[in-house]
Amino acid sequence: MIYSIVQIAIILSTALFIFSLHWMKDPKTARRGVFAGVAAMTVAIISTMVDPKIINWDYLSLAIILGFVVGIPLSKVPLTAVPQRTALSHAFGGLAAGLVGTAKYYLWLSEGVEQLTTFRMVAIIVEIILGFLTFTGSLMAAGKLQELKWIPQRPVTYKGQNFINLSLLGIAVVGGLLLVFSPAEFSYLFPVIVALALLFGILLIIPIGGADMPTVISLLNAYAGLSAVAMGFVLDNKLLVTAGALDGSSGLILSLIMCRAMNRSFTNVLFGGFGQVKAAAADAEQRTVKTETAEGAAEILEQASKVVVIPGYGMAVAQAQYRIREMYDLLTKAGVEVQFAIHPVAGRMPGHMNVLLAEAKIPYEQLVEMDDINSDMPQVDVVIVVGANDVVNPAARHDKTSPIYGMPIIDADKAKMCFAIKRSMNPGFAGIENELYFAEHTFMLFGDAKAVIGELVKHLSGKGSEE
Ligand code: TAP
Repeated sequence: MIYSIVQIAIILSTALFIFSLHWMKDPKTARRGVFAGVAAMTVAIISTMVDPKIINWDYLSLAIILGFVVGIPLSKVPLTAVPQRTALSHAFGGLAAGLVGTAKYYLWLSEGVEQLTTFRMVAIIVEIILGFLTFTGSLMAAGKLQELKWIPQRPVTYKGQNFINLSLLGIAVVGGLLLVFSPAEFSYLFPVIVALALLFGILLIIPIGGADMPTVISLLNAYAGLSAVAMGFVLDNKLLVTAGALDGSSGLILSLIMCRAMNRSFTNVLFGGFGQVKAAAADAEQRTVKTETAEGAAEILEQASKVVVIPGYGMAVAQAQYRIREMYDLLTKAGVEVQFAIHPVAGRMPGHMNVLLAEAKIPYEQLVEMDDINSDMPQVDVVIVVGANDVVNPAARHDKTSPIYGMPIIDADKAKMCFAIKRSMNPGFAGIENELYFAEHTFMLFGDAKAVIGELVKHLSGKGSEE
């Protein structure tokens, strides 16, 4: 009886996971997708717990308590820290898979070597290599994104790096093959493979530059998913196999989408050492920028017929989206057409800008993807760049020495006029100067994005002049 209930629960949970991913494709149904995912996970956990094979409730209860202790604070991180939070989740997923594989290997070894069939050994080796490299790789990625001082932010590269990395992985794979064929005779190789996988995870991440980090995080997501698939085979748990496969494939698809968005190939991301030329730009010659007051900018905006807002990471930091909504309402009421140009890697996570603008209830139809809006740019009267930097840097189009060369950008420089809102002349994520700010038709509005847009709103609503 319990067996049948568990089987039905597995099908239900798998279906819910699939619907969850399907609904998350569209912002209108994304919330439903999240609920479906939570429901799927709840059904999965309960159906695992009622499984009579689970014998030690003491350890299980302890693990559940620990999960809550770590998980609840993790759920409260600000939206800007979600990428590193996601990397931490992958790290824990990888660690769990690696530990389960290790426990199962030694358990079956103690019960008799005939338990360690070729199939089980292949699954265990895949599980521990992917699980442990995901663990250290994701921790490193989280540390880099959190800008921890003791982790170098710049890509660390050296001669023969790819050869060394691939050799380490190769040794681990060869060791794994020996173990598959003689699980007891070569048992001393097991900890060596674990150590190599842990080391490989670190070495995989250190040459990767900041701008490639989102792609690498979703790639680590794919690895975590694949190690869960292997874990499903080890534990003979169908739900883990299907959920892991969904996780792994969605991570891979997201990595491919992000590579395309940044005009980079997979191998380039993993072996390219992106961002190494960062330092060169720091000594750029001193140039001057033009500034504008909020009052002057508001007057120009009122005269415009087409305005495009380009949000970036700074909008998220300032939480300026609600003020932007007010500005949007005022301009629209004054007959100005206002659209929002969305770059696929603006902010610090996929869909970051969409989420924030949706939070402020900006009509979704007004959000236009980079590829669709760029051809309209020469007809745009004013672009307002709100805390965006790398995603509007024209150097990406022509400067072969730039670390962001080749990344598609939003063509803010092609609009008739540009207002750029940021606090200083500090660079963005890629650490490079932005020539857009020095362009003839660009005017800086220095300050916190929320405060500056607040000022614009005051002037647009006529309240600014009353004070
Ligand atoms: P960035 O290039 O990071 O620039 C953000 C700008 O916002 C900075 O120049 C900063 O200048 C300004 N800023 C910060 N706080 C502000 C505030 N309170 N008010 C006003 N301005 C503020 O942002 P972007 O253009 O969105 O580009 C995203 C970058 O992050 C890309 O390089 C991308 O590859 C990378 N990345 C993306 C993701 C994903 S998946 N989206 C994940 C990780 C990394 P000031 O300090 O002068 O104010």
